Amino acid sequence: MTFKEMILQGIPDHLPSKKSRDDKYSHAPKRKDILTPTEKKLAIANALRYFPASWHAVLIEEFIEELKLYGRIYMYRFMPDYEMYARPIHEYPAVSKQAAAIMLMIQNNLDPAVAQHPQELITYGGNGAVFQNWAQYLITMKYLDQITDTQSLHMYSGHPMGIFPSSIDAPRVVVTNGMMIPNYSKPEDWERYNAMGVTQYGQMTAGSYMYIGPQGIVHGTTITVMNAFRKKLGAGVSPHGKIFLTAGLGGMSGAQPKAGNIAGCITVCAEVNSAAAKKRYAQGWVDQLTENIDELIVMVKNAVADKAVVSIAYVGNVIDVWERFDTENITVDLGSDQTSLHNPWAGGYYPVGLSFEEANEMMANHPEQFKTAVQVSLRRHAEVINKHTAKGTYFFDYGNAFLLEASRAGGAVMSENKIDFRYPSYVQDILGPMCFDYGFGPFRWVCTSGSGADLKLTDQIAATVLESMLVDAPASIAQQLQDNITWIKEAEKNKLVVGSKARILYADAEGRAKIASAFNDAIAKGDITAPIVIGRDHHDVSGTDSPYRETSNIYDGSKFTADMSIHNVIGDSFRGATWVSIHNGGGVGWGEVSNGGFGLVLDGTAASKTKLESMLFYDVNNGIARRAWARNTGSLEAIEREMKRSPNLTVTIPNLVDENLLQHIQ
Ligand SMILES: NC(=O)c1ccc[n+]([C@@H]2O[C@H](COP(=O)([O-])OP(=O)(O)OC[C@H]3O[C@@H](n4cnc5c(N)ncnc54)[C@H](O)[C@@H]3O)[C@@H](O)[C@H]2O)c1
Repeated sequence: MTFKEMILQGIPDHLPSKKSRDDKYSHAPKRKDILTPTEKKLAIANALRYFPASWHAVLIEEFIEELKLYGRIYMYRFMPDYEMYARPIHEYPAVSKQAAAIMLMIQNNLDPAVAQHPQELITYGGNGAVFQNWAQYLITMKYLDQITDTQSLHMYSGHPMGIFPSSIDAPRVVVTNGMMIPNYSKPEDWERYNAMGVTQYGQMTAGSYMYIGPQGIVHGTTITVMNAFRKKLGAGVSPHGKIFLTAGLGGMSGAQPKAGNIAGCITVCAEVNSAAAKKRYAQGWVDQLTENIDELIVMVKNAVADKAVVSIAYVGNVIDVWERFDTENITVDLGSDQTSLHNPWAGGYYPVGLSFEEANEMMANHPEQFKTAVQVSLRRHAEVINKHTAKGTYFFDYGNAFLLEASRAGGAVMSENKIDFRYPSYVQDILGPMCFDYGFGPFRWVCTSGSGADLKLTDQIAATVLESMLVDAPASIAQQLQDNITWIKEAEKNKLVVGSKARILYADAEGRAKIASAFNDAIAKGDITAPIVIGRDHHDVSGTDSPYRETSNIYDGSKFTADMSIHNVIGDSFRGATWVSIHNGGGVGWGEVSNGGFGLVLDGTAASKTKLESMLFYDVNNGIARRAWARNTGSLEAIEREMKRSPNLTVTIPNLVDENLLQHIQ
């Protein structure tokens, strides 16, 4: 059968032969055995409802086995036989071009070169699922093949509920992931209801079909490192020969050395897992590697003397590096940490004084002892960071719960008021006030032709647009624009594409709309050979309510509300998005964040121009308005500027209260 025929059949007419999972891929960890016997029956019945009753006797044993072995029912038997990757759009059988673009995006999220655990349909973050099982994938692809431009497909946590009549202006697909009644939104609930097959953790861009591989992280990390140096050294001072010390060479953390190189500093990145460190070294994501701390000291001293731009991986515990740098009096200009402290007891953080193997053994066989070792280590970690910050290091939390877990362990990381942490998070100090408050966020696009020439042309178009904006830009955003011009001009050289022909570029509301509009014109003229999908990471200005990350620099008490992300998804859906999504969880965890995103297919028509202008305007300015109402200075400036530019925009502006008036309130 051809690829097209296999897509068209959805669930096959005949029971395919049994398949087992392939060891050449990374697989999701075994999930908790959490279901009661009654719930297990439900899980099996839920899985069987995708298939004709005549197959149930065979499938039931298999699904019981999968549930027992893996804690979930993935339905490996139904994995497709064709290769999984983003094909050029014309290879997808589909009535609707928009739907074909979505098929391409789904296959990219499941491409083994892109996805973390491809056979469990997990794109990234350990549990960021596109679908819960292969039946959902097969039915969804068939539905996307048949859907017309006056219908919408509704996706419930990976399950294709159905195609409903709508209109040409409606989204083709509406996605929800993990939406729960708030009282049922604890991590245990995710384990239970996901095992039953009724919900999934969509992370951010996994369940919304908008993941584009590691370049998204590299760009965000570069912006963070670059601006952290500006905070520390002052604008315009070169970070050559200055040290950024951090930990982690894993999934996201592995972007740190590359970002440090682009920012122009010396990056020292400790990684306890030698396989992870060596993998990043072999991939060229870090320049040098050493397993010997004495050698590291020599390398670093030489690099400082040479004012070098270099990244060095040290195979070992990061605390050893912090402590040795302290005794050697090596100045650390910038410090952070990207160990996986959102998961401290199950391998996210390795305690000092134990080898990697010893720690793994203790974790499996003596979990209580391991927990104590982690807490002792965190206290020591905090103490040595405090020594460095007393000497001038600028330390920031990288959204990995380092400060939270260090404080829980009794580490000295609280400020004098005993409420706030002593150090800021990267969103509080950098991404929030410098980027999100002005509307700068991770805009991205995918060339559905799959052509490198198209991607190159989009890079050039985007650079030209940003350069024209820089001419009259206010001083407050000129630096951001300049950084983004540099990024896009060097993007091709930095060889960041994995999977679909995609690009990420931080841009504000005006920039996003102007770039998208210029792409649309180029498609109309035939210079770009096929439609372009535009979208963004959910880690952005408006799409995400997350009190410890995206909205951590909201100080009016509203950071625990989720109105902004809900307005965003509704607002985008009737302004022209081709698909919209809203998720519970993502990044910081189930129950901790509400996040949403969109995809919009540009096809060169006047209709797509109208949609992009209306939707991108709202997609960014919704968040700026909310941030302005929270009295964030940058957003107040940005929204006033937008109201001048856009006469039909009226935003409620806060009256600022003199702090002295509030002093006497007890
Ligand atoms: N990069 C970003 O943009 C970003 C944004 C927000 C949050 N984060 C957070 O950063 C963390 C890391 O993410 P990831 O995908 O890289 O996770 P990961 O688990 O793939 O990598 C973390 C690495 O840290 C190493 N490690 C653990 N303890 C160590 C120690 N004491 N010394 C040296 N190395 C140690 C582990 O071996 C592992 O390879 C997560 O908590 C994530 O949520 C990252």
